Amino acid sequence: MRLTGRTSITRRLTLLFVIASSTVLLALGLVVASSVEKHFEDLDMEVLVSKMDLTRHDLALLKSQDDLTRFGQQLTHSLVGHHGLEVKIIGANQAVIFATPSADFALDLVSASATQNPYRPMLWTMGGRTYRAIAAELPTGVNADVKVFVAVATDIAHHQAYMRSFLQTLWLFVAGAAALTGVLGWAAAKRGLAPLRAMREQTQAVTAQQLSYRLPVESAPLELAELAQSLNEMLARLEEAFRRLSDFSSDIAHELRTPVSNLMTQTQVALSRARNADQYRGILESNAEEFEHMGRMISDMLLLAKAENGLVVPNRETILLAKEVRALFDYYDAVAEEKGLHLTLEGDGEVNADRLMLRRALGNLLSNAVRHSTLGTTLRVNIDTSPDAISIAMQNTGDTIPHEYLERVFDRFFRVDPSRQRSSEGTGLGLAITQSIVVAHGGTISAASIDGVTTFTIKLPRLS
Ligand SMILES: Nc1ncnc2c1ncn2[C@@H]1O[C@H](COP(=O)(O)OP(=O)(O)OP(=O)(O)O)[C@@H](O)[C@H]1O
Ligand SMILES: [Mg+2]
Repeated sequence: MRLTGRTSITRRLTLLFVIASSTVLLALGLVVASSVEKHFEDLDMEVLVSKMDLTRHDLALLKSQDDLTRFGQQLTHSLVGHHGLEVKIIGANQAVIFATPSADFALDLVSASATQNPYRPMLWTMGGRTYRAIAAELPTGVNADVKVFVAVATDIAHHQAYMRSFLQTLWLFVAGAAALTGVLGWAAAKRGLAPLRAMREQTQAVTAQQLSYRLPVESAPLELAELAQSLNEMLARLEEAFRRLSDFSSDIAHELRTPVSNLMTQTQVALSRARNADQYRGILESNAEEFEHMGRMISDMLLLAKAENGLVVPNRETILLAKEVRALFDYYDAVAEEKGLHLTLEGDGEVNADRLMLRRALGNLLSNAVRHSTLGTTLRVNIDTSPDAISIAMQNTGDTIPHEYLERVFDRFFRVDPSRQRSSEGTGLGLAITQSIVVAHGGTISAASIDGVTTFTIKLPRLS
């Protein structure tokens, strides 16, 4: 079967690889870019501040207004070799004392920056070029009142060009790395998931006839070992359920074969020659008995099938257990008397249960106990109440159930004595039905049998 429209794990992992690697590379690139930019700014500032300090020093040395006028020439000399460095000095009344050829900065901008943000780096754009600039109001040596505004700026075009190409390379690199991690991630995910595909192929081999197959857990990777283990456990459960089911159907076939072949033989014998009415009546009566037996068995099996599918819902009412047990004692009185059995009851309790079902469950236990008791023994029923449960124990003395069969007595069609298999005495469904009734009431049933003393104990939850 091909599943479409779902995200595959390989695709998902590949996408995660791409996102993770791109994010890391991008963050790294941006950190590097900002540190490079900061470095450029530091370098520019070093030049600008030193130039500003030099100017401040030279201005302080001026003695007269004439010196100030000549100051421009002096500065022109000291700027020789400083490519890209622009200086503008503005005196009183916005008169330009000095300006390098490209220093066309607006006078207002210089004076405002000098007073509001002295020495603070700024970016000024002029004539399509960008400058990093600082401005300051500096005193002169002429006299205390004569102050000038000085702006020092450097063209940062080459830095900007560098940053542009750096970011371009970064984007290209990230895109390339994303594509590469995509391909590598896809290959890695594909390879990493190979054991999963192998497991899928192994499970595809399992059919109803091969439920004994188990996935290799030791060779599976750690993450899949648990899954393989769970699948194996599921297979074991399925195998067990399947085995029970096929056992059950072959049991049914066996169980029905005997009465049907009895009926057939009897009928064929009857038909082999002419018989009188009494003989026919006798044969029909015997047939009716077989039919009754078969009918009982079929309805028992139906009940068990229903219980197995959770379709048996108890119609609960409050039941006085001692009263129910006494009623059952009355019912079995004749048989008990025949075997010289002494029936005793101890304790009492109330339980919230389906009356008919409970009667049937207890009746099955009692009929077994009576059947398997040795002549003249005592059959005890003990009702015990604890805070959260009520237990009903039925004890008889007679046949011991071997230890290895204690669990299996609750299986359908199981009888301890194989010679009694398919006898007309019992169908071997009694305890299976009792157990399914107890389970439908949320209780448990257990069996113990030592030295001829056999006890079946039903535990039911208290009134809820
Ligand atoms: N009290 C008991 N003492 C000894 N063996 C018992 C006792 N109760 C049940 N068993 C054993 O468990 C087997 C299964 O009991 P179960 O009631 O399921 O079937 P059954 O009595 O043979 O048939 P059915 O109850 O359907 O008529 C019996 O065949 C018997 O061997
Ligand atoms: Mg029985």
